[in-house]
Amino acid sequence: MKGKNIILIGFMGSGKTSVGKILSEKLNYDFKDTDEMIETLEDTTINNIFRLHGEEFFRDLETTLLLSLKDTMRNTVLSTGGGMPVRESNRKILKEMGQVVFLRASADSILKRLSGDTTRPLLKNKNPKETAERLLAQRTPYYEEAADVIIDTDNKAIDDIVGEILNAI
Ligand code: S3P
Repeated sequence: MKGKNIILIGFMGSGKTSVGKILSEKLNYDFKDTDEMIETLEDTTINNIFRLHGEEFFRDLETTLLLSLKDTMRNTVLSTGGGMPVRESNRKILKEMGQVVFLRASADSILKRLSGDTTRPLLKNKNPKETAERLLAQRTPYYEEAADVIIDTDNKAIDDIVGEILNAI
């Protein structure tokens, strides 16, 4: 594997950003995170975007961002928001952009990692556990469809996950 982008997909709390940063250092690649880029472009938080404009508006921002990165991004590890692969057009673009790695995590470990988190608007409701389980079940087929490589992350240290990705790509 040389020169190809690596695209990390997976549910909220599956470790895409932490893993992506270390992976990019090991590969001597740039690191980009779509949530961070959207917050910078819109000059506000993801929470505010959802609150003021709703989810579909945010999804359109994600698609626009992917399209703008598609032809120019090189030697980059891209961490994507957990809902990015839900749109079929996004899955197609992600695959064209590079090698897609799905960081798979169980509902239990996701809920543990996200406990107390206030930055994910979709889980700011009375029953975040039920929401996370429902969304995870809905999205898993999309993650699997988009993935070139699937890495199980439950009970693994970040460095081990990075090592597994490096072996697989
Ligand atoms: C979302 C995941 C978040 C962020 C937004 C919506 C989702 O990204 O894009 O809150 O729909 O799963 P992370 O996966 O980085 O938490």
